[in-house]
Amino acid sequence: AVARPQQNHRASKKSSLGRPASPGSGSMSNTAAKAVAEPLVVPDFLPASIAFTPEWKALEEHVDEIKRSHLRDLLLDETRCKKMFFENEGILADLSRQRMTEKTLQLLFKLADQANLKGKINAMFNGEHLNLTEDRAVLHVALRAQRDEVIMCDGKNVVPDVWEVLDKIKDFSNSVRSGEWKGQTGEELTDVVAIGIGGSFLGPLFAHTALRTDQEAAGLAYGRNLRFLANVDPVDVARALNGLRPETTLVVVVSKTFTTAETMLNARTVRSWLTASLGQEAVAKHMVAVSTNTTLVREFGIDPENAFAFWDWVGGRYSVCSAVGVLPLALQYGFPVIERFLQGANAVDRHFHEAPFDSNIPVLLGLASVWNVSFLHYPARAILPYCQALSKLAPHIQQVSMESNGKGVGIDGNPLPYEAGEIDFGEPGTNGQHSFYQLIHQGRVIPCDFIGVVKSQQSVYLKACGPASVGGEVVSNHDELMCNFFAQADALATGKSAIELRAEQVPDHLIPHKTFTGNRPSLSIMLPDLTAYTVGQVLSLYENRIAVQGFVWGINSFDQWGVELGKVLASKVRTAMHNCRTKSRKISPSDGFNPSTSNLLNRYLSGKAE
Ligand code: F6P
Repeated sequence: AVARPQQNHRASKKSSLGRPASPGSGSMSNTAAKAVAEPLVVPDFLPASIAFTPEWKALEEHVDEIKRSHLRDLLLDETRCKKMFFENEGILADLSRQRMTEKTLQLLFKLADQANLKGKINAMFNGEHLNLTEDRAVLHVALRAQRDEVIMCDGKNVVPDVWEVLDKIKDFSNSVRSGEWKGQTGEELTDVVAIGIGGSFLGPLFAHTALRTDQEAAGLAYGRNLRFLANVDPVDVARALNGLRPETTLVVVVSKTFTTAETMLNARTVRSWLTASLGQEAVAKHMVAVSTNTTLVREFGIDPENAFAFWDWVGGRYSVCSAVGVLPLALQYGFPVIERFLQGANAVDRHFHEAPFDSNIPVLLGLASVWNVSFLHYPARAILPYCQALSKLAPHIQQVSMESNGKGVGIDGNPLPYEAGEIDFGEPGTNGQHSFYQLIHQGRVIPCDFIGVVKSQQSVYLKACGPASVGGEVVSNHDELMCNFFAQADALATGKSAIELRAEQVPDHLIPHKTFTGNRPSLSIMLPDLTAYTVGQVLSLYENRIAVQGFVWGINSFDQWGVELGKVLASKVRTAMHNCRTKSRKISPSDGFNPSTSNLLNRYLSGKAE
């Protein structure tokens, strides 16, 4: 049994954290992620652990009931299937293959109330400083607000600031795309290299991968190139620049802090590539920045006029709708396409903010994940889009989810008395079926998100090409893809019993190997199509779902202290490596590394790997 954790300091006020607004909030600030100096005051509207509440206990008791059921039977219940089917603005979400009944949902709604989920969602939209450890608001939803919406942060409506930057991106991208903005030699800039890592890369890459095969977007991108450079590995630099000419290349340095080691080194490397042939003055025409840190942008040599701001109330992994994503994507596809992406995200934000929980898709999905992780004890989630264009969804959601909810303490600093966070991974179907699905079918139980699209982005290859090579009917490529989308979810849910196998004359010794236990949960999400608008919807659906999970678990989903230690140690290695290289000496005990690291470092420095 886990002892009830001590509550840390609790604020008496319900609606405010009783702390003055941070100086840079609401404007382009120079603050990198900073810890707040004074003890954290957890306001009453942010209850942390709810593990000792009757609502939590009721769900724990309910687990036994669910364990006695099998999805094979639950799926025969037509009423249940109807009640587990949700729809909003074209998005269909079918939860009938979750190990849940209506009662589970009702108990989860009670748990959500106990966690003050509604209050937390409202607090997020109201610009409260939910990110307590950095004393920041969490307002990525403001990035896709409509021009006339009002979203307050520290006494200021931030929507006009957001639109000022969007208008600047619109003008700049129009002028680059039209050829009005020219490079140093007078050539048009047709190629863009976006340098950034983590949230300054994964979200934009996801959206770009989703849009590049959309017929309309692809037409608008004709003759243009968008590349990403994230890894500090020189191989990534070489690949990103391969085939590009400095004369036609625009470089966008994307970094919220403008201090991230990998990004800044890559930015310097690419600046040298540009200036080696075009001269130092080329930076003014060929390099722009996206950051919250004007001072460092200027110090790097980029005119702040050529910088696109965002704000400390945007977390890196939630920044794709800021200039981080909008600028490179608008340069590639034109601003109107990206505006539709923002509109799609905004539509789901509004649904999330306004819909009652029993029809609120991000809330329902988030609660289902809490149920799977904390009550059924499934540690992972597979994200399986049956859509090649969504192939970068899983890598993006990995960061959004695991950096947000991969925490060991509640918002009050006390150890979590339950499992929170989950291991996210995935690949597009059907590729994943030929890779890791074996484990999902007969090994570990991993709740899956199946994502399908009704209308393919491709109007070609839509006709069936016969004759069938594998037997059975001949269908088109897209239908074949979607056959698997439907089949896999049922295979996981219903399985195949020994009785069925015997009826098929399967020899006894093979029966254990060929049995599928079934009862493996999944979620089916179906989109009408994959356009800029629906890509925005998918993004918001996942971002808000992940926030729901963190809100219920009572953690701070908006800080990421877990990435710091490795950075500090890398810096220590960097110093030692530099000293050893410049002074031609070996690592010694005085450098402060353990024998294992010293040995590895010395082998590396000597260039011998044997
Ligand atoms: O990996 C840690 C992290 O801080 C992420 O949260 C962030 O998305 C990434 O590094 C990049 O940070 P920046 O945009 O400041 O370069």
